Amino acid sequence: MQIKKIYPGVYEFTFGEREKFEPSNYMLEPPKFKKLNSLPDCGLPFDIDSVFSEVTERGALISLPYSNGEEIYGFGLQSGKVNQAGFKRLLKTNADAHGNIGNSHSAVPFYVSTKGYGIVLDTMRYTCFSCATSKLHKQNNGYDGVITAEITGVKGMRGYLFAGDAILGLDPVADVCRRYVLFSGGGAMPPLWGLGVWYRACGEFDETKVLNMAELLRDEEMPVSVFGLEPGWHSHAYSCTYKFDKERYKDYKNTLKKLQDMNYKINLWEHVFVHPDSDIYKSLEPYAADYDVWGGLVPDLSMKEARDIFGGYHDDYLLDEGISGFKCDECDGSDFTGGWSYPDHAKFPSGMDGEQMHSMLPMYYQKTFYELFKNKNKRTWGEVRAQYSYAAPYPFLLYTDLYEHKDYISMLVNMGFSGIMYSPEIRTADSKADLYRRMLTGIFSPKLEMNIWFMPNPMWKNYDYTGNHKNETLPDSDQLRDDCRNFMNMRTALVPYLYTAFYKYHTEGISPVRALQMDYPECRNQENPNRNVFAHINGISFGDDIIAYPLTAKQLEVKLYLPNGNWYCYFTNKKFEGGKEYTLKYDIDQIPVFVKDGAILPMLENINSVYDGGKSKIKPVVYGDKAEGSLYIDDFTSFNFERGAYNIYKFKYENGNFTTEIENSENFKSNVEILESSVLPCADVSGIFW
Ligand code: GAL
Repeated sequence: MQIKKIYPGVYEFTFGEREKFEPSNYMLEPPKFKKLNSLPDCGLPFDIDSVFSEVTERGALISLPYSNGEEIYGFGLQSGKVNQAGFKRLLKTNADAHGNIGNSHSAVPFYVSTKGYGIVLDTMRYTCFSCATSKLHKQNNGYDGVITAEITGVKGMRGYLFAGDAILGLDPVADVCRRYVLFSGGGAMPPLWGLGVWYRACGEFDETKVLNMAELLRDEEMPVSVFGLEPGWHSHAYSCTYKFDKERYKDYKNTLKKLQDMNYKINLWEHVFVHPDSDIYKSLEPYAADYDVWGGLVPDLSMKEARDIFGGYHDDYLLDEGISGFKCDECDGSDFTGGWSYPDHAKFPSGMDGEQMHSMLPMYYQKTFYELFKNKNKRTWGEVRAQYSYAAPYPFLLYTDLYEHKDYISMLVNMGFSGIMYSPEIRTADSKADLYRRMLTGIFSPKLEMNIWFMPNPMWKNYDYTGNHKNETLPDSDQLRDDCRNFMNMRTALVPYLYTAFYKYHTEGISPVRALQMDYPECRNQENPNRNVFAHINGISFGDDIIAYPLTAKQLEVKLYLPNGNWYCYFTNKKFEGGKEYTLKYDIDQIPVFVKDGAILPMLENINSVYDGGKSKIKPVVYGDKAEGSLYIDDFTSFNFERGAYNIYKFKYENGNFTTEIENSENFKSNVEILESSVLPCADVSGIFW
């Protein structure tokens, strides 16, 4: 095996005959090499001689040393356990994550170990990771076993190893993940509106119903910033024509204009399978796979020619009408729902096969749109149903067709390790408690979205599918509506804070939403052998200063472990000492959310400014006697920040004095007003956020 250092703490390894197509040759953005090179060097936490590589009749495999107690995190969107040690993971992009075996909408061949290293296999093929198997007979190196990663049907392997160090104040696990994200090109920077609230209307609506719904949301003062159209806008949706249906949309241009006049950004649902009635069908034929899906072409978007045709059409027909982004559906494939997708042996003109494309077509699909918007100096923010390696810079949030709330929570916890942002959308609910708890999970996730694509009415009118279709109004619907508005306002108030966290993702590689296990070693089993952390609920860091423990409807009393330090309850401002376990009770409209002592949160006061582009009024809220915080501001929509057009406000509170310093103030004048700070918990804060 050859191994060479390519950046501080980042090593490339190869052995045998490399594959023809390797994902790192097709990354959306180059590695953030300046930042990577500025990080301290660090070595791998094991001797490279204890790593075994082998090419067998089956394929290529690499075995890394494993020690008892070591925890393994990652593999993309995994539900269930956070620590993958002791499990076998069959990583295959698939919409049906049955049996929790590793198949997933986003099955990423990357993991990070608490030993302080991570590895990604640079392959588009399905992989199998056996996380902690028994010891190899020849292994005589003081370890307790191996972690084996195998790619079948290949004659060699390339991959990258990432080392992590604690010297920069991060835990080595977080440092490994950060180096992986920076290597991937850094995190995507959303437009401000992308972090606001999303609402997707019923797929069958015509333009009148779409506009009525959009008006209703405004009349009811719902702070929705993105309005999504589902399949019904197409003249044929499965496969897609990408043309407005003439019956349902008599004047689509006018409808799109009216939505924009109501200050909505418009997101369009589609998938990549091109219907024969589409204007681009003929020109895409030479660049399509040998299998059709739903009677449509599968374009080989790895080829520039195909991207130019597919993207060029979207540019002319849709972007010019003000579309701000797309929902790239069905790009995962499914093994158990009718075999609608192309098979693994499908052939694509580029030379890739169906197996490789199940991993990569979603990435090329996103790239096609990203480039269109970037060429116009506009940021987009969309949705996608599959993600793969090096996904961090793609401005699309992953969503699923799965709907178990407890799976949502574990997926949210697991995603950040692989630098992927996941959106646990709300569709229906079994009860008021289910609705509220799902909303709360959405608030503390990368996106709060109501995906009401299969119901005619908002879920606060009736969250039950059947009742909603019968247009029945629940007796407490006014209360539900007001509470849902409060949830949305609560999310929107956090947008400047989250925007700042995303900037850190972009420049420093720190995922804005990530498992507590990433930041806080004391939240891992290994570090606390005397207690059983499995008895505790899992939590996430939401930015650097907030932690949240999403709860399902029935969890009214929970046992949680609060990391070291002091914390304030987000709702009551009550102070809690960390490094301890607590049993706490929560009503259905709250979950455990804590703010770090010493934080200053930039909170948005005029909620509408996220979507109407008005001047944002931001209130710095101080937690504790001595505190610091920051706020990142740019023009919220373009790429000019990459050329220095931004400000960073640095807030400080000490000895009763609040001070603000502005970085980069000569280059950019921001459209924000910083209001007088509030100091918590001494000030009267009742009703600030709730
Ligand atoms: C599904 C998708 C849903 C919705 C639906 C419309 O595949 O996951 O969110 O868009 O298609 O047909």
